[in-house]
Amino acid sequence: MKRILIVTGGGDCPGLNAVIRAVVKRASQEKDWEVLGSIQAFNGVLWEPTEIKVLTPEVVKGIHFQGGTIIETTNKGGPFAWPVKNPDGTWGAVDRSDEMIRKIQYMGIDAVINIGGDGSQRISQMLFEKGLPVIGVPKTIDNDLSSTDSTFGFQTAVEIATEAVDKLVTTAASHNRVFVVEVMGRYAGWIALNAAVAGGAEVCLIPEFPYDINLVKEKLEARFTRGRGFAVVVASEGARNKNGEMVYEKNDEVGYENLKLGGIGRQLIRELKEAGFQPDMRETVLGHLQRGGVPIAYDRVLSAQFGVKAFEMAMKGDFGKMVSYRHPYFVSVPLKDAILKPNFVTLDNALVKTATGLGISLGIDLNNP
Ligand code: F6P
Repeated sequence: MKRILIVTGGGDCPGLNAVIRAVVKRASQEKDWEVLGSIQAFNGVLWEPTEIKVLTPEVVKGIHFQGGTIIETTNKGGPFAWPVKNPDGTWGAVDRSDEMIRKIQYMGIDAVINIGGDGSQRISQMLFEKGLPVIGVPKTIDNDLSSTDSTFGFQTAVEIATEAVDKLVTTAASHNRVFVVEVMGRYAGWIALNAAVAGGAEVCLIPEFPYDINLVKEKLEARFTRGRGFAVVVASEGARNKNGEMVYEKNDEVGYENLKLGGIGRQLIRELKEAGFQPDMRETVLGHLQRGGVPIAYDRVLSAQFGVKAFEMAMKGDFGKMVSYRHPYFVSVPLKDAILKPNFVTLDNALVKTATGLGISLGIDLNNP
């Protein structure tokens, strides 16, 4: 009997269950493969007693359109930084990776499929270097991994953000208001840029291009005549004023190391008021709505393709690699290359040219960026 252990790590993302189901369904076509899932990323292996779920075709039946992950996830701690309470009550971290690898070997696991974003794939690479037979599957709504054409979950997030823009246009127009829609994406502006183009926004602010508030104000003012008009601004959570910083909160959740971004919508409205912009303004923060619920068909298909490919890589022993979509093929790329460079929006990107061609302001002077 050969065993695969599936792990879902980092923030949840529409399509995770579809990948799990695809691995299990593909494995069930081969003799002697058993698929297991570790609960809450690698925590399930590290906990005493362990929490491991057997994933049979019966268990994964019909989960391809369910949001979230049936084996749970976490974006805190992990095998290399397991939170421990110090005697003085503060929290520290210990490296439990060797112990975890021993446990996985003892469980008779032949391959680990780690479904996660850049942070999780970094962990995959470190575990691979220590001898774990691991395969990565790229997951992130942010689309910030450069070694694959797309990551599942991203298009669903874009769809949700676009629906929000569509809805806010009608209320903005009715009230002669400006709406600022704050979307996720961390340090990458892909969700914002796609939703701005699809939804017909007037302004799109993204982390890669720190904005000039006067240019934003000018663009919005041009949309109003004698106080009548409306506009929608899509602002990525990591966007920032060229003279300022990203807006974030300090997070005291144990083991959480990310910046908790959020608040740019409100800040932008404050800056516009200070710059003398008169019309009424409101902000809508989409937050985790962009990650919940059913994956759209595109993401289900991509997830299914990733899952089948990941299992076939496991059968071949193609470890230390990540599944990657390079249209029209599904290939495997070394994890160490996959984590090298993030996928950020650049000025020469085709979608930037489309956006500016449509007259969407990015809050920057394109002749002097
Ligand atoms: O990376 C995915 C993501 O949803 C980002 O877009 C966002 O900044 C972050 O995760 C939110 O994380 P959390 O679930 O910890 O609030």
